[in-house]
Amino acid sequence: MAVQAPKKRLDARAIRADFPIFEQLIHGQPLAFLDSAASSQKPRQMLEEMTEFYSTSYANVHRGVYVLAERATAALEGAREKVRALVNAPDVREIIFVRNATEAINLVAYSWGLNNLGPGDLVVVTELEHHSNFVPWQYIAGRTGAKLAMIPLTDEGELDLSGLDAIAAQGQIKVVATNQVSNSLGTINPVEKLVAWAHDQGAIFVCDAAQSAPHMTVDVQALGADFVAISAHKMCGPSGVGALWGRTELLRAMEPFLLGGHMINSVRLEKTTWGELPHKFEAGTAPMAEAVGFGAAIDYLQAIGFDAIEAYEHELAAYALGRLGELDGLTLYGPPADRRAGIVSFNVEGVHPHDVAQILDMQGVAIRAGHHCCQPLMQKLGVAATNRASFYLYTVREEIDQLVEGLHTVRKVFA
Ligand code: ALA
Repeated sequence: MAVQAPKKRLDARAIRADFPIFEQLIHGQPLAFLDSAASSQKPRQMLEEMTEFYSTSYANVHRGVYVLAERATAALEGAREKVRALVNAPDVREIIFVRNATEAINLVAYSWGLNNLGPGDLVVVTELEHHSNFVPWQYIAGRTGAKLAMIPLTDEGELDLSGLDAIAAQGQIKVVATNQVSNSLGTINPVEKLVAWAHDQGAIFVCDAAQSAPHMTVDVQALGADFVAISAHKMCGPSGVGALWGRTELLRAMEPFLLGGHMINSVRLEKTTWGELPHKFEAGTAPMAEAVGFGAAIDYLQAIGFDAIEAYEHELAAYALGRLGELDGLTLYGPPADRRAGIVSFNVEGVHPHDVAQILDMQGVAIRAGHHCCQPLMQKLGVAATNRASFYLYTVREEIDQLVEGLHTVRKVFA
């Protein structure tokens, strides 16, 4: 994907000063935090807004008629509107607060899948999926008698679309579920093309945007998807909150996912009826302060600009691929920098990724080592695990240099 030069260039050093986590040494070294794909760090502005909410406006929402309850409700609904605007949803009632993208996808798999899938139907995922967009579909397909099929990968770590017709011949495709950006390889997937294909088959399209929404503009109307899942914690927001966007007509026709308080219209011994959107899918007390933090994180990112963030991360990915390419005995996975987000996976010949990560930690470098919740991908790559360095708007080149220095030490230790 060609990235246009943003109008405004991002100043990572100034941004970094907003993140208190960087004001410390780790093992006596400056922190090189290269694990933002797992979870991002938090800016002071977001933390302060959550504290302010707890300190001045906290009460349970949608229940009280007193001033604090009204303030809290306005804050929660204000955050919902910020999420709506972030993803350009046509209607704020289509934004459901959930714990994270995993819960969002489970909601769709259970509530839509259990009633709409059956024998002869096909659910299509990809070899690049995170388990969160693979395992729920595999499970619900198993429960309903539907089959699961997988779009394979090329050797460069991109989706191989040449076999789509053969996949379609295996059954009636009802769901196509893919991520927009791979958490493991950083591959940017051709979602618009896959949405068009899914709709041609009469299927719905479920987009896991957990790794794209933090880094680029996600516009649900432009994408044309039917459901989109995001997590706040990967985009400068708190853990414990995320959002599902879904089309009104689909959400209305679906059964609820979690049952209990708040999601009902009336409850009688004989029958309970469900509340309106979005409440039908929000049983129990909402993640109120977390939603407020999510809204604050969206404000923070929008003030910097998603075009600037995306362009900066492409620069970092290119820089990292270049620097890591200088090292002997290192295998890099995934597509070229211009077709990936700020994520780089690699292995050091003869050294287990966990050992690599542990030695790097002693030098203040935090990366993730493991299967990254992508075991089908690891199988394709022929490895049990990889190392993964991932970047965000506060990442500076010195952190990538610190990683490369650390890898020299790894090689010396294991020479
Ligand atoms: N999904 C997160 C990751 O990729 C946890 O690390």
